[in-house]
Amino acid sequence: MTANGKKSKAEPAPPTTLFLFGAHGDLVKRLLMPALYNLSRDGLLGNGLRIVGVDHNAISDADFAKKLEDFIRTEAASKVKGKGNADNALDPQLWAQLANGISYVEGDFLDDGTYADIAKKITDSGTGNAVFYLATAPRFFGEVVQRLGSAGLLTETDDHFRRVVIEKPFGSDLATAEALNACLLKVMSEKQIYRIDHYLGKETVQNILISRFSNVLFEAFWNNHYIDHVQITAAETVGVETRGNFFEKTGTLRDMVPNHLFQLLAMVAMEPPAAFGADAVRGEKAKVIGAVRPWSAADARANSVRGQYAAGEIGGKQVPGYREEANVAPDSSTETFVALKVMIDNWRWVGVPFYLRTGKRMSIRDTEIVICFKPAPYAQFRDTEVSELKPTFLKIQIQPNEGMWFDLLAKRPGPTLDMANIELGFAYEDFFEMQPSTGYETLIYDCMTGDQTLFQRADNIENGWRAVQPFLDAWKEDDGIQAYKAGEDGPAAADALLARDGRAWHSLG
Ligand code: BG6
Repeated sequence: MTANGKKSKAEPAPPTTLFLFGAHGDLVKRLLMPALYNLSRDGLLGNGLRIVGVDHNAISDADFAKKLEDFIRTEAASKVKGKGNADNALDPQLWAQLANGISYVEGDFLDDGTYADIAKKITDSGTGNAVFYLATAPRFFGEVVQRLGSAGLLTETDDHFRRVVIEKPFGSDLATAEALNACLLKVMSEKQIYRIDHYLGKETVQNILISRFSNVLFEAFWNNHYIDHVQITAAETVGVETRGNFFEKTGTLRDMVPNHLFQLLAMVAMEPPAAFGADAVRGEKAKVIGAVRPWSAADARANSVRGQYAAGEIGGKQVPGYREEANVAPDSSTETFVALKVMIDNWRWVGVPFYLRTGKRMSIRDTEIVICFKPAPYAQFRDTEVSELKPTFLKIQIQPNEGMWFDLLAKRPGPTLDMANIELGFAYEDFFEMQPSTGYETLIYDCMTGDQTLFQRADNIENGWRAVQPFLDAWKEDDGIQAYKAGEDGPAAADALLARDGRAWHSLG
């Protein structure tokens, strides 16, 4: 997508110095560096990219580059675009070219000296363009940005840009998100801020808008006259892995809902933007998330389920319960699963529930959106063998097995009028070559080319937190956590949430 109109084909990003704060962290090794390599293989970086790691450990430029190379070769080979097989995925020549521009600044994020070294790197780079990517713990976001501002590093001129990329979690509730936005906006303008939600880097997520707004048939049924309800699920089989410390304070609601799940909800529910530009798209998203009904405390409790995984079996293997994981309290009441019912009070969606669920250690990895249609009127079939019209749906599969499938009714061949559910589908792999990617390629490229469409504006983030705040508040009084066995799709109460409305979750897979 482009900020202001047409780009017939992607051109290399302008020369830029990219500062990676938190250079020794997982994000840089696992995702950002492989993504930069893929961009370079696609010819989208030109020759003018310099990558500067910033962190407190001492390491030479050459050792830092070597460490990244070794990691990609051993741990992240499946994420980089190769010449056909993983063994030669990292092209030595191409990597050498990228590595040539890699250097390192050793420094404490809270020390002014670090910023003097950063300023020098920019002066020496031959371009004033700089992107500061904060792949750090969230407590540093405000601190780093304030220091970048005080050091004069965020001042733009007609000749160069200065941009800041902020990872999630952006705040831990509405008040902290508002405070962080205020802190950022003191030292730079909204146009310089790129708040990442990696779900927006996924092709299948971007495609929701493109399919909805380029095929006239979707608009005809995309409203409360024809849609009964919508289900959005992000199921994972992994547990908290090594992130017990982080997860204990965060929990699944904060980790997944105001960001990833609300991005999916916004893509499904937003009105058509006037253009595929950053202002128009983000304006429509802010409107629809702003129209989510703020539940009272009692309604928030009644319309939410919190679960925590107990020991169980995943893929034939026994796995421990959440409370037995490293850095997790033995009596923890942090949720690893949530199911929610939300209502959008606007003309298109009034009366259509959106059921959201996400969790760790569920039966399979599956992120999907199911648009469930109202049944057709039955009267015409009264005198036939058809005893009921089963509900039909459209499933948008975000990952894995990316694609879209309509579940429709058709006549079963034979002399009687009998019906069966059939599938009308599109699998990405049948139409497009699926290249290895991290999902960060488009986001990094868009940031370097100044396209904010796929990044969160301040109001998008705040509206997301505003919509989940009633759940956070209600749970403070009564956390109502319910156990589910690893390998199950949440506690029984998640099924009851829909059964109460005469509905059921679509089976995963
Ligand atoms: C991250 C969360 O933002 O998204 C993780 O912090 C979660 O807990 C991950 O596992 C899921 O991302 P994906 O792309 O695997 O669906």
